[in-house]
Amino acid sequence: MRAQIEIRRLAGGDLRAQLDGLAAVLADCVEGGASVSFMSPSTHVQARDAFEGFAADVDEGRRVLLAAFADGEVVGTVQVVLAVPPNQPHRGEIAKLLVRRSARGRGIAQLLMERAEAEARAEGKTLLVLDTVTGDPGERLYARLGWNRVGVIPGYALYPDGRPCDTTVFWKSV
Ligand SMILES: CC(C)(COP(=O)(O)OP(=O)(O)OC[C@H]1O[C@@H](n2cnc3c(N)ncnc32)[C@H](O)[C@@H]1OP(=O)(O)O)[C@@H](O)C(=O)NCCC(=O)NCCS
Repeated sequence: MRAQIEIRRLAGGDLRAQLDGLAAVLADCVEGGASVSFMSPSTHVQARDAFEGFAADVDEGRRVLLAAFADGEVVGTVQVVLAVPPNQPHRGEIAKLLVRRSARGRGIAQLLMERAEAEARAEGKTLLVLDTVTGDPGERLYARLGWNRVGVIPGYALYPDGRPCDTTVFWKSV
């Protein structure tokens, strides 16, 4: 039988208690070739450092971080960046949607995104934006969840192995 998936919003302290699990998900995605800020090889320490930085933002109310748990283990995560310039208080940004390879294709990313949109609404956000690698599974997911495609920026980022990749920008009213 498949494990029940639980989505939890982590406060700074809870997040720090889950640093190893969150770092393992990030490292697994980079190892799998995902273009999510890091180059290959990236270490567990680098991934932990990144989430420690996110925990500081969570403490300051600048970011929301959600984690998906299966049998008590972190299998996915997503963030809503709340910090925006004073003239865009209604806008947030989705970042770092990550599901470890062994847990994909079970709707975990969809659950994370639905909850992220609900948390953003609860924080007073009515407009969300995100960008994702053109042609990767994330792009299909966002289109399926009703996100509006703005367009493609060629050569925006690099895959972990150094190849350039295009980025598709999306927005959604929530
Ligand atoms: C993009 C990503 C987050 C998707 O995670 P996921 O949990 O596999 O996503 P879902 O399970 O919700 O959807 C994936 C597919 O499984 C399908 N699916 C969902 N639940 C399913 C189920 N119970 N049975 C069969 N298929 C299912 C979905 O329809 C979807 O199909 P598609 O690929 O044809 O669109 C994941 O691939 C990932 O972490 N990639 C690396 C990082 C990345 O690129 N992140 C996005 C950058 S912003």
